[in-house]
Amino acid sequence: MRAAVVYLITLLTAFGLASAAAAAPPPRADEAQPLRAWMRDVVDKAASDKDFDTLKAVFASLAEHAPKGYDDWAAIARKGAEKAEAGEARAVRKQCLACHMRYQRDYRETMRGAAWPTTAGAR
Ligand code: HEC
Repeated sequence: MRAAVVYLITLLTAFGLASAAAAAPPPRADEAQPLRAWMRDVVDKAASDKDFDTLKAVFASLAEHAPKGYDDWAAIARKGAEKAEAGEARAVRKQCLACHMRYQRDYRETMRGAAWPTTAGAR
């Protein structure tokens, strides 16, 4: 991803289109990519720590805030909450992956800058 950004900036510079701003480093995740920042700072940490209480909270919150048109999102998240409740780390990871495979790319392409309405699980 970073390589692609660098490539793009290089390309823009080559064509003389780059302003000083375009050459600036890409924005940090938490400024322009609210869901990504929460995933990285809170959700990923909870999964690494096998912190099932936090995982339950983040899955519940994901289930509540399914983006419009992402019809399987809530069900994937609810199943994740069940697996967190049961303390099944591998099954939890499967639900992370299920959602990422299904929606991550589209989300990145179409709604990455959207506000993410929750900080559930943040400490
Ligand atoms: C219901 C959907 C859904 C679930 C469940 C989910 N994620 Fe995500 N996750 C996303 C989406 C969508 C993105 C893309 C956000 C972006 O890049 O703007 C994302 C991005 C991420 C990222 C950022 C990757 C990067 O680009 O740096 C991490 C890390 C992550 N998720 C970890 C997890 C973990 C760990 C779990 C399970 C405990 C999990 N996610 C569960 C939807 C989900």
